Amino acid sequence: MIERLNVALDGRGYEILVGERLLARAGEYILPLLQAKTASPNVIIISDANVAKLYLHRLTGALEEAKIRCRCLIVPAGESTKSLSSYAELMENLLEQKPDRRTTLIALGGGVIGDLTGFAASTLLRGVDFIQIPTTLLSQVDSSVGGKTGINSRFGKNLIGNFHQPILVLSDVSTLATLPRRELLSGYGEVVKYGLINDLDFFVWLEKNAPAMLAGNATLQTQAIVKSCAAKAAIVAADEKEQNVRALLNLGHTFAHAFEAETGYGSELLHGEAVAIGMVLAFATSVKLGICPQADLDRVKAHLQAVGLYTSPLEVRKNWNINALMEHFTRDKKAVGGTLTFVLARGIGKAFIANDVDAGVVREVLVETTT
Ligand SMILES: NC(=O)c1ccc[n+]([C@@H]2O[C@H](COP(=O)([O-])OP(=O)(O)OC[C@H]3O[C@@H](n4cnc5c(N)ncnc54)[C@H](O)[C@@H]3O)[C@@H](O)[C@H]2O)c1
Repeated sequence: MIERLNVALDGRGYEILVGERLLARAGEYILPLLQAKTASPNVIIISDANVAKLYLHRLTGALEEAKIRCRCLIVPAGESTKSLSSYAELMENLLEQKPDRRTTLIALGGGVIGDLTGFAASTLLRGVDFIQIPTTLLSQVDSSVGGKTGINSRFGKNLIGNFHQPILVLSDVSTLATLPRRELLSGYGEVVKYGLINDLDFFVWLEKNAPAMLAGNATLQTQAIVKSCAAKAAIVAADEKEQNVRALLNLGHTFAHAFEAETGYGSELLHGEAVAIGMVLAFATSVKLGICPQADLDRVKAHLQAVGLYTSPLEVRKNWNINALMEHFTRDKKAVGGTLTFVLARGIGKAFIANDVDAGVVREVLVETTT
């Protein structure tokens, strides 16, 4: 089963294809896009060492079969590859291949490769096209869609970047079979988010189907990824540059970023794990403010626990520095007279952006959940 989805953006719309064994058919989907701009189709694939070992030959085989000339650049796996120095090295290596404006870059890998390749594509020769072939659940449901690209600075994550939309996203769910369970679960944190933002029915579907989906059922994985991409695409189409509603996608993320920053963005706490905790805390804040039923908070927690995700910061660390956590919020979101901006919820599927959250209430939630 191959599902197709359109991201509607003025003049820059693109298709997302989701299904099994798509890599082996990549040439079929990519060739028409390249032929539209050049008679000698050529691509440069960027991948990380882990993913290249597993899937690069399958992709190059499919492209060569379609008579697409491909060259490959392999970078080290991991978040540290989203650095200025790796970006500089990648750009020099790309230029060494003598690309022209019709060269297309392909990102084969997780969110790190997608973000780095997208940023490289947006700056190479003042901008070339790129295609996302995401291979982690997180990148299939989140980072490959929406056009945010970027790298990290010593001052923080994703501070150097651009909006640059891909021309195609190919999500081959078969690649999830080799993804470590912990990475799969981390990506699932972002899937749950879409239900919590504005889709109670999807959350109910996940309560029923998540165990089989996480155990590898490709049909359920395809359905969950399509649903997630559709949810993100709709929000991005309404607000591409995050002037308003796109911020809803940050549900759980303000808390998550503070915990990730405190743990150094490493393997102690993965992004989706932090998001799961952050969503629980966003619901806890909403309950404390009297706008969300306690039963909804309990239900969110129960589901995340049932699949094996963290729901409390104390499962990660026994000691947290509350002042340091609070500082991340005030630095991130520019506290105005003691108020902060958070995505809160009136219940499951009823998230909204609150610009006037009392910092004292947030501190109380942190005290209750981290000590
Ligand atoms: N642009 C956006 O909108 C957006 C949104 C969310 C997250 N992000 C970014 O995404 C990044 C995280 O992405 P990620 O979680 O995919 O991490 P990742 O790219 O580091 O991949 C996680 C690990 O899994 C390995 N891997 C990837 N696919 C595999 C497969 N199929 N089988 C076996 N191993 C595989 C990778 O080599 C890596 O070691 C962060 O840098 C984050 O900032 C961006």
